[in-house]
Amino acid sequence: MSHFAHRSGVLHAEDVAIPQIAAAVGTPFYCYASASLEEQYRHFSEAMPKGALIAYAVKANGNLAVIRTLARSGAGADVVSAGEFKRALAAGIAAQKIVFSGVGKTRPEMAFALDAGLYQFNVESESELEALNEVALSKGAVAPIALRVNPDVDAKTHAKISTGKAENKFGIAWTQVRDVYARAKSLAGVKVVGVAVHIGSQIIELDPFRAAFARVAELVRQLRADGHALTRVDFGGGLGVPYESGDAPPRVRDYGDMVREAVRHLDVELILEPGRFLTAPAGILVTQVLYLKEGEKRRFAIVDAGMNDLMRPALYDAWHELIRVQEPAPGAARLPYDVVGPVCESTDLFARDRELAELKAGDLLAFLTAGAYGAVLASGYNARPPAPEILVKGGQFAVVHPRKTVEAMMADEKMPSWLG
Ligand code: LLP
Repeated sequence: MSHFAHRSGVLHAEDVAIPQIAAAVGTPFYCYASASLEEQYRHFSEAMPKGALIAYAVKANGNLAVIRTLARSGAGADVVSAGEFKRALAAGIAAQKIVFSGVGKTRPEMAFALDAGLYQFNVESESELEALNEVALSKGAVAPIALRVNPDVDAKTHAKISTGKAENKFGIAWTQVRDVYARAKSLAGVKVVGVAVHIGSQIIELDPFRAAFARVAELVRQLRADGHALTRVDFGGGLGVPYESGDAPPRVRDYGDMVREAVRHLDVELILEPGRFLTAPAGILVTQVLYLKEGEKRRFAIVDAGMNDLMRPALYDAWHELIRVQEPAPGAARLPYDVVGPVCESTDLFARDRELAELKAGDLLAFLTAGAYGAVLASGYNARPPAPEILVKGGQFAVVHPRKTVEAMMADEKMPSWLG
């Protein structure tokens, strides 16, 4: 169920009226519903085999309060930098529930994660393996590792978020996998514990997952025959969510049944790394109409959120549903709008020809399904302080990441001596 719904014509997040938050913090702002985060986590974990480590992909939404909400539900974390690692720890996730992924971990990042006592590294290349071995040996430690393999499977998602094809930079090429495992086995600073795979994001069919997981299961058998004592598989993230009303991503139960089928008889601990599924439906971006402009060819609604707040439309041609915070009168005339932000870029375009009940300046709008890859991708481009983040719980709300002032954004910049 959605925890963002109209009550008496006014959009609420759980029991809080959105205009009440707008009056308190100004627009634009992200608003997250705790109940939605908790519900998404529950649906996911109930669908998975018992005992699976659900390592929330922190990249989807790194807000500390969001991570902590998921951590209280039982989540571990999948991180791709020491920064995300520190966020996960700060939010209360034990290092023993943290998986460190990513193609470009630095040696200091490896050292940090080893000191913290992480669950496992997902290693993505032979050179990274050698570096990790050296870092671990220098500390007298042994790094638990899985190798992330590239199964050369088409995830059938947007090209910019596909990661499991041979041409993608991610994972170890299928043809080299056995050699790299053999090399890993010979190194004293690492202990091979598993196999990891992640084929992409916003995947809306089960078949690509099934194909990739079957390849991994086959590989586990092969590697065991080669003498590797594998005890874990990590199936990554990627389960899609509906953005448009016609979207029909796999049901989480069907995904879970497929995962269960894939690991049947393997006798392994299972790790999953969902990001978007847990947080996307739990967030909206609220914005206000600044101006309306009739162009020669198009009708523009200029809103106060920009591509610096929500990059997904500009980066991936992503579609986000846009609704009115105050429900329009039934039968109100609908007009096509190009909904654009204030940033000086033509790609600062959220929606083209979007049919909306006639707008006027001051109207509040909400972009839905914005809880994943929204605030985390924000920037200060055009010297615009990114939208603040609000977390709702029942009838309460809290500002969990305030809007910075421009002065604060400038404060850490320094003039070189020759400019005085
Ligand atoms: N694990 C790994 C190794 C990943 O690279 C990712 C996402 C995930 C897990 C989580 O995937 P999810 O469950 O969220 O699909 N910014 C893009 C999405 C980039 C995804 C990057 N990797 C977007 O807004 O669509």
